[in-house]
Amino acid sequence: MSEPIKKVCVIGAGTMGAGIAAQVANAGVPVLLLDIVRDEQDRSSVARGAVEKMLKTEPAPFMGKGAARLVETGNIDDDLAKVAECDWIVEAIVERLDLKQALYAKLEAVRRPGTAISSNTSTIPLADLTGGRSEAFTRDFLITHFFNPPRYMRLIEIVAGPQSDPALVASVEDFVDRKLGKSIVAAKDSPGFIANRLGIFWIQAAMNAAFDQGLTVEEADAIGGRPMGVPKTGVFGLVDLIGIDLMPHLMQSMTRTLTTGDAYLEIARDHPLVGKMIEGGYTGRKGKGGFYRVNRELDKRRE
Ligand code: NAI
Repeated sequence: MSEPIKKVCVIGAGTMGAGIAAQVANAGVPVLLLDIVRDEQDRSSVARGAVEKMLKTEPAPFMGKGAARLVETGNIDDDLAKVAECDWIVEAIVERLDLKQALYAKLEAVRRPGTAISSNTSTIPLADLTGGRSEAFTRDFLITHFFNPPRYMRLIEIVAGPQSDPALVASVEDFVDRKLGKSIVAAKDSPGFIANRLGIFWIQAAMNAAFDQGLTVEEADAIGGRPMGVPKTGVFGLVDLIGIDLMPHLMQSMTRTLTTGDAYLEIARDHPLVGKMIEGGYTGRKGKGGFYRVNRELDKRRE
């Protein structure tokens, strides 16, 4: 077993990163949370997002409100060198291979070799993520796929590559098991791993059926929610939670990596409405609203 994890860095303070940082801090472990910070307003919203999530996290056995003090927020450009203080870096930026690879190239120069680095990617294979990186980086790299919302979802998918250091993987597993209370599913390095290989197929097929048949989102979710054994949100409610802007990235990543004849490729389809919603900032719960819940408060503040 390698060194215990005493400080964590989370990069990307969006839907997942802020939630992961909040959980780690609630377990009493200091977190450095980095994002692209353009101005002071950005800086305070990064901090606020993380702290709000933290306070919503169930208290026991965690630290509740005191956890906020354990989160240090920063700007990816100015504060990158601080990642060397951390024993585990969790990358949770947008689902784009080019952006993730560009970030890893920068991290390679500043991180401490022998410490863990993982991606929260939903769909991108580990072999693609580590393409072009050094042996040392590839040895320290794994995928830790948290589910949304991290504070409720007890499962985590972990993907280790053939070159990943087993001791390092074991130390991350030990941390997510003992500190974060998650059950681990070891997945193979394949597009979408296990959960999204099934989940994306199902979401896409259900959206196609609703659009083709002219169903309202309420009708579609009434049929495709509880009666189908799915949580009460149904598909459209789930997409609002995930982030509507994530959907095209997931689809691109899956269609890029799967081979001809795969059942998912038969149903992968762009929906013009989805593109228009993203353009207008209707990205779901994190944005102005989505298929449900138009965030009128946010609209008013932006006027
Ligand atoms: P998001 O769009 O809500 O947040 C991404 C954050 O990363 C933004 O705050 C953005 O400013 C920041 N960012 C982008 N490029 C950056 C860079 N170079 N350096 C620092 N920060 C940068 O995205 P979300 O939904 O949190 O997804 C993050 C990752 O987690 C993706 O890989 C996604 O596939 C995965 N994921 C998402 C789930 C979901 O339900 N939304 C569930 C499980 C995994």
